[in-house]
Amino acid sequence: MVQVWKWGRRRSTFPLISLIFMLLITATILFNEFKIQHFHHNQSSDHHLHLQHTLNFSPVELDRFTTCSSTVKYSGREVGWGGNHRYLPVSDGEKECDVFSGKWVFDNTSYPLHNESHCPYMSDQLACHKHGRPDLGYQYWRWQPNHCNLKRWNATEMWEKLRGKRLMFVGDSLNRGQWISMVCLLQSVIPAEMKSMSPNAHLTIFRAENYNASVEFLWAPLLVDSNSDDPVNHRLSDRIIRPDSATRHLSKWENADILVFNTYLWWRQGPVKLMWSSEENGVCEELDGRPAMELAMKTWADWVDSYVDPLEKRVFFVTMSPTHMRSQEWNPERQGNCYNETNPITQENYWGNDSDVPTMRMVEKILSRLGSKVRVLNITQLSEYRKDGHPSIYRKFWETLSPEQLSKPESYSDCIHWCLPGVPDVWNELLFHFL
Ligand SMILES: *[C@@H]1O[C@H](CO)[C@@H](O)[C@H](O)[C@H]1NC(C)=O
Ligand SMILES: *[C@@H]1O[C@H](CO)[C@@H](O)[C@H](O)[C@H]1NC(C)=O
Ligand SMILES: *[C@@H]1O[C@H](CO)[C@@H](O)[C@H](O)[C@H]1NC(C)=O
Ligand SMILES: *[C@@H]1O[C@H](CO)[C@@H](O)[C@H](O)[C@H]1NC(C)=O
Ligand SMILES: *[C@@H]1O[C@H](CO)[C@@H](O)[C@H](O)[C@H]1NC(C)=O
Ligand SMILES: *[C@@H]1O[C@H](CO)[C@@H](O)[C@H](O)[C@H]1NC(C)=O
Ligand SMILES: *[C@@H]1O[C@H](CO)[C@@H](O)[C@H](O)[C@H]1NC(C)=O
Ligand SMILES: *[C@@H]1O[C@H](CO)[C@@H](O)[C@H](O)[C@H]1NC(C)=O
Repeated sequence: MVQVWKWGRRRSTFPLISLIFMLLITATILFNEFKIQHFHHNQSSDHHLHLQHTLNFSPVELDRFTTCSSTVKYSGREVGWGGNHRYLPVSDGEKECDVFSGKWVFDNTSYPLHNESHCPYMSDQLACHKHGRPDLGYQYWRWQPNHCNLKRWNATEMWEKLRGKRLMFVGDSLNRGQWISMVCLLQSVIPAEMKSMSPNAHLTIFRAENYNASVEFLWAPLLVDSNSDDPVNHRLSDRIIRPDSATRHLSKWENADILVFNTYLWWRQGPVKLMWSSEENGVCEELDGRPAMELAMKTWADWVDSYVDPLEKRVFFVTMSPTHMRSQEWNPERQGNCYNETNPITQENYWGNDSDVPTMRMVEKILSRLGSKVRVLNITQLSEYRKDGHPSIYRKFWETLSPEQLSKPESYSDCIHWCLPGVPDVWNELLFHFL
């Protein structure tokens, strides 16, 4: 599994191996980035999904040491949500402008919205300029919707919206990047003695005392409970999930006022093992990533459906973040990846191969059944254009790179995450737009 891909050889296997490689890098970062803070969670949380109320024993919590006693074929079992086809109207009837279709406009007067070197919470994984990126063009692009303008970003106004509230991002490292972007966008207007950041854990919290508000990140890469829920040590092989339970995570997220969820890339690494809550003997079923993600999404949707009152809680779902790992997709002449890309793609509706359309259809269907309880932040198309927005080689790498890798920068480029300031700032402007 741990295989270093050699540039130029075995071209046909590049997509899979490079994805595995990139995810390995991702995992390595998360493994090394912070001191291990072992997280003790509280099992006496009140709210379990009602699916679980019928159990007369407590299923053991999954952790990175969980193993399947045996693995069988998927039985076809479903989670308990999906039957109520209540297609509520998505908004208050007024025809809204589609802010997700538009184009990138070079704008070096209003952008960037924050300064990389001024944000004490910046991650070394995303600070591209600090790590030697020579071109800064990626910081200067504004998203211009086709038929309207986005609300102008204003940190003070955002804090007013957050006063007395908890804003929580829940998901994987892409969502974590969006959280860091939000913290960096917001922190500069808070005096030093009024702001604090908790140590990295399952739940990490940025607080602003003068607004009695927090901006938090919950590590839940698969949304449901899994063996990968340790923010630092998450296994790569044998992904084991509880398709019908998100108890561990929702005990943390249920009291947040504004929730921003994502999940996608972790489902793209091959089959997943399912350990149902009712399974007492550790037997797992095996299922491909996409249908497994659908089960997890339905479990999440069940919670949204049962517990979210849209007048009290705002819920957002961020669609898949695109990758740029094969330059042939946008330029048939060029064999490489996002490395050395300095400009956005201009071809209208460009869509990369890693953004799985059937997954998008599935997400769309589930979100539409939740009606006004959840709002989609459809960042996929706009981010597709930004082949220039990834760190590539300009970030901290935690493993020592071999001379062979160093001589072929494409071989270790990160074409998954996004530099800051950059694309995730715009995702947050969209969030601000809808709040
Ligand atoms: C778990 O939560 C309950 C009630 O919210 C509390 O009484 C208990 O002290 C908590 N336990 C731990 C270990 O935090
Ligand atoms: C903005 O970009 C234009 C064109 O590239 C350049 O002439 C100008 O000096 C830039 N302004 C700033 C403030 O960087
Ligand atoms: C960020 O701040 C540094 C140091 O204060 C300054 O040199 C740099 O020009 C700033 N960058 C931007 C894009 O404003
Ligand atoms: C930002 O918002 C605050 C509070 O709503 C307002 O007082 C201020 O004028 C706004 N700033 C700009 C530049 O619009
Ligand atoms: C701070 O906000 C919390 C909700 O997040 C609220 O319960 C509490 O009363 C607030 N405290 C003050 C002093 O306003
Ligand atoms: C992307 O997908 C299309 C359609 O499936 C395929 O024809 C093309 O070869 C793929 N491109 C690359 C670079 O993998
Ligand atoms: C990077 O791009 C520049 C200009 O597009 C080109 O001159 C240079 O050779 C490229 N470098 C590599 C290593 O591909
Ligand atoms: C997001 O937008 C794309 C078009 O860019 C569309 O195909 C897709 O269905 C949308 N996704 C959702 C969940 O609305």
